[in-house]
Amino acid sequence: MSNTPLAPAPVTSEHIDLQARNVSFSWEDTPLHWLPGEPFAGHTINVLHLLLPAGERWFVHVYKQVLPYITDERLRADVVGFIGQEAMHAAAHDDVLPHLKRLGLDPTPYTAQVDWFFEKLLGDRTLPPGRARKWWLMERVALIAAIEHYTAFLGDWVLNAEELDRRGADPMMLDLLRWHGAEEVEHRSVAFDLFMHVDGNYRRRARTWASAFAALVFLWQRGVRFFVENDPQRPGAKASFGQFHRAGRKGLLPSTGSMVRSIPTYLSRTYHPSQEGSTAQAVAYLASSPGANGGVRP
Ligand SMILES: [Fe+2]
Ligand SMILES: [Fe+2]
Repeated sequence: MSNTPLAPAPVTSEHIDLQARNVSFSWEDTPLHWLPGEPFAGHTINVLHLLLPAGERWFVHVYKQVLPYITDERLRADVVGFIGQEAMHAAAHDDVLPHLKRLGLDPTPYTAQVDWFFEKLLGDRTLPPGRARKWWLMERVALIAAIEHYTAFLGDWVLNAEELDRRGADPMMLDLLRWHGAEEVEHRSVAFDLFMHVDGNYRRRARTWASAFAALVFLWQRGVRFFVENDPQRPGAKASFGQFHRAGRKGLLPSTGSMVRSIPTYLSRTYHPSQEGSTAQAVAYLASSPGANGGVRP
């Protein structure tokens, strides 16, 4: 039996210097049902606008605390680039919320819950300096690595979701999703590399994956229900798992099967995020994204 431990195997050609891009989107011409005839799928994707601003600001907040623990200069540069990109993502999704409110769907009751989740439940606790404080910091670094597994998964999905184009999805919304998705693919290794650098404990990785997955499923299904049940154009509408599954089969959402398969992928001891998704595809999209190149309506 070999004594060589199984270790993550990064694809070195997938590394890239990260930069935050200034973006510009204008929402006045985007309808509430920006994915024509598929309000459930559109609302499921809309949950991103509710979760990401608070979630990505929380990433930035945690990562600023972990910077002193980084002893590798290239990783430090990656983390600084990551912080810049995530701050921009949070602001861009935040800008959609007033537009949804103008269209009759006020997201404030739900975003208040999400803010509580990230700021209070996952925020800084009044821990004394020392082991307890460091334990909580490492726990959150591992949680972010698990969440970033899913943001990269979604980014790769949306870059390849041609069915959204065929169904006539609003080009501005599609560009927001694909610009963000492309940057998620571009920086998909940073959170994992950071976790491996400062801790890397496999039990922590598995435990925090379970917490992150459960939290994402819980928050996402609540968000979908919130949007569907408060849609002013569809009074009495209800959300169900069957609708999610069918939209996945149509290519309008990630398929249930691909989501299930992503679980053993992350839990494999040889997994590294660079093994999935394509940096070349992400960079090519970013070079052509209207929002990332002056903000003209696509
Ligand atoms: Fe992001
Ligand atoms: Fe990210």
